Amino acid sequence: MKTRGALLWKPGTNSGWSIEDIDLDPPRPDEVLIELVASGLCHSDAHLDTGDIPLPFAPVLGGHEGAGVIVEAGDHATGLEVGDHVVTTFLPSCGRCRWCALGMSSLCDVGAGVLGGKAPDGTNRIHVDGQPVGAMSFLGTFSPYVVAPVSAVIKVPKEIPLDKAALLGCGVPTGWGSAVYAADTQPGDTVVVVGTGGVGIHAVQGARLAGATTIVAVDPVEFKRETASKLGATHVAESIADAMSLVADLTDGVMADKVILTAGVGEGNLVGPCSLLTRKGGTTVITSAAPAMQAEVSLNLLDLTMSGKRLQGALYGQCNARADIPKLLGLYKRGELMLDELVTNTYSLDDINTGFTDMMEGRNMRGVIVYD
Ligand SMILES: NC(=O)c1ccc[n+]([C@@H]2O[C@H](COP(=O)([O-])OP(=O)(O)OC[C@H]3O[C@@H](n4cnc5c(N)ncnc54)[C@H](O)[C@@H]3O)[C@@H](O)[C@H]2O)c1
Ligand SMILES: [Zn+2]
Ligand SMILES: [Zn+2]
Repeated sequence: MKTRGALLWKPGTNSGWSIEDIDLDPPRPDEVLIELVASGLCHSDAHLDTGDIPLPFAPVLGGHEGAGVIVEAGDHATGLEVGDHVVTTFLPSCGRCRWCALGMSSLCDVGAGVLGGKAPDGTNRIHVDGQPVGAMSFLGTFSPYVVAPVSAVIKVPKEIPLDKAALLGCGVPTGWGSAVYAADTQPGDTVVVVGTGGVGIHAVQGARLAGATTIVAVDPVEFKRETASKLGATHVAESIADAMSLVADLTDGVMADKVILTAGVGEGNLVGPCSLLTRKGGTTVITSAAPAMQAEVSLNLLDLTMSGKRLQGALYGQCNARADIPKLLGLYKRGELMLDELVTNTYSLDDINTGFTDMMEGRNMRGVIVYD
């Protein structure tokens, strides 16, 4: 079919997204065609443009945080049918690999290929003037139609508004799980979230729901700190340096049980300060995506060893999409997980570059493209 999509012709060059007419192949047996209602704008797509996350493939259709309705289902699209409301998850789970079997589907072997530009079977569904086009996360939700593998599609209840459900494709589980699973937040904990944007705000919500009693939101942007305060942060700071004395005061010098790094870019010089904010035996979770070629981290290793601290990486918040997306939507329906307030601006596909500028300039919790 003919449709449109936002492409990066030269990823890594800060050239922005261009809207092109694209050809989309029909779904193969284990795929579905989804008519999208909305797609979130995540910082990970911006990383493709800046080059922090390099791609082996160009051009590429961006977007990985979508929600919509299935309009065509392949013959082996088990459990999915035309008319189903679905969320696309940026991390598929095959259900068969060792990691899926262990309940660690965020590390799925199929998911390991999401930045390869191709569908899991190594082919392309998208073309422009006959040229193959890569797809972010096997998806490419910056188009009103997406052909997605069943492994990346989660059925959701029809009463959930799809323009909010889209956030479940990445930002919500990534942030929530960073606090609940990767940090293992316990009742009474002091938790610091560094960077309370589209991902970090859900770490604040996860920490609150897990029973943390002191939650410090660190963000240079006032609007982010205000939003974090409304959604569970008990204290705010403009910088890690400011948080250092605040957290020392709040904990009688013990420091935070858990610190979660969800700033826009995982700069190596943020790791040491985050670890210093963490108490003896505590955990520092690194969720931010770092520039791929960055190999240096500033960290006081003697403090890490002598204080028995843990540094924990977290992909997709260590969530299992098939279990956690329905659970999170249940919390949303009960009014315990906020989503509506976090879609701060909506855009047409043609205005996608404005959406990313708004993200970079701190105007959005989440910007969302809404399709007609
Ligand atoms: N690990 C994963 O599975 C995963 C999944 C999705 C996104 N990510 C990554 O998480 C990061 C956050 O994504 P997002 O969509 O929330 O981005 P965002 O731009 O919406 O939010 C980033 C926030 O960090 C703040 N910030 C920037 N520098 C800071 C600093 N030095 N100290 C404190 N706050 C700072 C910004 O003001 C902003 O509010 C990105 O690197 C993204 O690629 C990781
Ligand atoms: Zn994302
Ligand atoms: Zn798997």
